[in-house]
Amino acid sequence: MTRLPDFPWDSLAGVKARAQQHPGGLVDLSIGTPVDPVPDSIRAALASVSDLPGYPATHGTPELRTTAVEALGRRYGVTGVEPDAVLPTIGSKEAVAWLPRLLGLGPGDTVVIPELAYPTYEVGALLAGAEMLRADGLTQLGPRRPALFWLNSPSNPTGRVLGVEHLRKVVEWARERGTIVVSDECYLSLGWEAEPVSVLHPSVHGGQTDGLLAVHSLSKSANLAGYRAGFVTGDPKLVKRLLDMRKHAGMIVPRPVQQAMVTALTDDEALALQRERYRRRRLVLRKALQDSGFEISHSEAGLYLWASRGEPSLSTVDWLADRGILVAPGTFYGPSGGSHVRVGLTATDERIDAAAERLSAS
Ligand SMILES: Cc1ncc(COP(=O)(O)O)c(C=O)c1O
Repeated sequence: MTRLPDFPWDSLAGVKARAQQHPGGLVDLSIGTPVDPVPDSIRAALASVSDLPGYPATHGTPELRTTAVEALGRRYGVTGVEPDAVLPTIGSKEAVAWLPRLLGLGPGDTVVIPELAYPTYEVGALLAGAEMLRADGLTQLGPRRPALFWLNSPSNPTGRVLGVEHLRKVVEWARERGTIVVSDECYLSLGWEAEPVSVLHPSVHGGQTDGLLAVHSLSKSANLAGYRAGFVTGDPKLVKRLLDMRKHAGMIVPRPVQQAMVTALTDDEALALQRERYRRRRLVLRKALQDSGFEISHSEAGLYLWASRGEPSLSTVDWLADRGILVAPGTFYGPSGGSHVRVGLTATDERIDAAAERLSAS
């Protein structure tokens, strides 16, 4: 039986209870859960096929696959992806967690994850029985030939963006070693001071998608966290391998959610509106944190501020909890996160303003 780590957020229960005592109420910035409404266009799309009684296709509707390819091209300049190489997933978390296993990795294989990383990459390695290694640079890896290399740009938790040159080097290095590169791109639409680039952009892959996969999520870009909507795309052979496994395992996106995804991937106005909401919240919070003595690192894109008071991250979590603000300690994301906290931008304008006011009073 695979031993998984304790679920990190469970350990915040005590400090959360304390933050909730604040007379102005809790401002929960500890998880990246969307708070803004699901766009009406998407709700209508969901309802429009809610009367269909049959099983949905694991591969998704042809309309969904084509729409995803068009959206990637229009929004991010992605090229070289065929609609058949799009595979919907039940949100992207399960895709991340099961990907190594579904690709056939196992004991003896190595999965490389970023030094500071979304915890599910490690879980995915464990579920496959593979070895996990944290590394941001290629030189750290020496002569190793990992089976899988995770990229996450913009990063959760640091908001760091990897430039085209960096991405291209990783892809070249991986191709020389037969390593699969999987890029988790769930924050790709949220560039602030840097423009994030997909691993499927021609400037990175040079016209060929072999050995490459990109994982996308509609949770943050379209407020669809509750619908569970994501997809994986890239190398058609790898996608086919995943499709074959997922058909057998019943890992199917519900048909109404598939229809909602079509609209989410078409509605660029809703995407821009949501981006604008986060842009404002980010500016308010960043200023308030900086004015009260925090240093913000990276955070040039994505949904979080990676902040430090130059002390152990748990002390900062406590300091903020005293002000009714809950954040995640950097240690949730890797050993090198020990002096940072991750501050989410996912709260209403009212709660973000309340947090800023409390910080400026401190
Ligand atoms: C880096 C990263 N990948 C994947 C996910 C999973 O998102 P979802 O399962 O909602 O698509 C998250 C969620 O916060 C994330 O931060």
